Amino acid sequence: MKIAVAGAGYVGMSLAILLSQHNQVTVVDVVHAKIDSINARRSPVVDAGIEDFLANRALDLVATLDGATAYKQAELVIIATPTNYDPNRNFFDTSHVEKVIDLVLDVNPQAVMVIKSTVPVGYTSSLCERYPQGKFLFSPEFLREGHALFDNLHPSRIIVGVPGESAFSDELEAMALTFADLLANAAEDSDIPQLIMHSTEAEAVKLFSNTYLALRVAYFNELDTYACSRGLDASQIIKGVCLEPRIGSHYNNPSFGYGGYCLPKDTKQLLANYQDVPQNIMSAIVDANRTRKDFIAEEIMRKVESLLNAGNPQPVVGVFRLTMKTDSDNFRASSIQGIMKRIKAKGVQVVVFEPALAVEEFFGSKVMRDIEFFKSECDSIIANRWNDELSDVRDKVYTRDLFKRD
Ligand SMILES: NC(=O)c1ccc[n+]([C@@H]2O[C@H](COP(=O)([O-])OP(=O)(O)OC[C@H]3O[C@@H](n4cnc5c(N)ncnc54)[C@H](O)[C@@H]3O)[C@@H](O)[C@H]2O)c1
Repeated sequence: MKIAVAGAGYVGMSLAILLSQHNQVTVVDVVHAKIDSINARRSPVVDAGIEDFLANRALDLVATLDGATAYKQAELVIIATPTNYDPNRNFFDTSHVEKVIDLVLDVNPQAVMVIKSTVPVGYTSSLCERYPQGKFLFSPEFLREGHALFDNLHPSRIIVGVPGESAFSDELEAMALTFADLLANAAEDSDIPQLIMHSTEAEAVKLFSNTYLALRVAYFNELDTYACSRGLDASQIIKGVCLEPRIGSHYNNPSFGYGGYCLPKDTKQLLANYQDVPQNIMSAIVDANRTRKDFIAEEIMRKVESLLNAGNPQPVVGVFRLTMKTDSDNFRASSIQGIMKRIKAKGVQVVVFEPALAVEEFFGSKVMRDIEFFKSECDSIIANRWNDELSDVRDKVYTRDLFKRD
């Protein structure tokens, strides 16, 4: 099948590579450097699987800036462009998705468009009213950044949503099955659960899944806040709690807060979708992250105060990595940035160790790329995730990474 993928980010690249094992795939982006990088078989994102497949596998894959030509030739257009949460409108900014839709409808209205971007609940149905000539499906994407291709080679489930309101719903039902099979056949696992449902339900699956993950992070973070406040060992409590099989010991490691590109924005979007629907938990999940970051920032301020009291006139706090996860280059909405903002607002001098940053300053803080120099310059170091590079300065480090994993 001839497939075009709009957006060469984590989602677009992992799908483009997955499907180009057996299909002719053109990936479209608006950033020149990404296109050059893909055509030179280098990954534009840090992801071991994507890097390996691009370098070593026979893939029918090209990248281009020319969306019109790519979409004109495609039977299927997968849309994986950003949908950032817009705090003013209280909704995702779907304009990048709609830019692609406008172009596809201009050059090839016959093509079926599969939206992989995360969108508000009800969005795909609303597209059918706005663009009655368009053929849309929605398929939620569950990958983790840094493991994007791996998660598509070993998916937990494949879900495709069909908008019942479309004039093409029979054709779309058939295409939904075809698309689910395309994904399943390209994966390395067999017996992957497949669900075909209404697009609005599929959109809800995505937001409720991420909000549940955020709830779990927030829960163990709040347990940790309690333990720290009462002088208790949080790791003992968590181990004891998680031996209950209905709770389990996965995804229970405290952090500075949930972060990354998806959890903060998807929880806010789901809360916005609850307008006029009774709820308590959804608000609490959103609020809990702010409370946790306030608590962590206060803990760090206590350390700064004790350095001041010990005669250090201007203690330097070092931020060890801006990234959210180990082995990732992505620091969009990472929780440590929220901590950094809070302590800087209190006048603390902050420097940043971030080898993935090419600039000299980040929000007015000096960026360092030499770890030894960074360790020697800092009086205290904060790390959302522990790294053995910090072993020799363990006494200076503040982290809540109790189990040394994501
Ligand atoms: N990152 C994740 O872990 C993840 C997981 C599931 C779902 N999602 C969702 O998938 C979507 C994409 O996420 P991502 O992390 O891959 O984003 P990303 O920012 O890494 O990549 C998006 C790409 O789209 C490109 N782009 C923007 N406008 C374009 C246009 N008009 N035509 C072609 N390309 C265009 C950008 O240049 C960028 O390279 C978002 O809606 C996100 O919420 C992300």
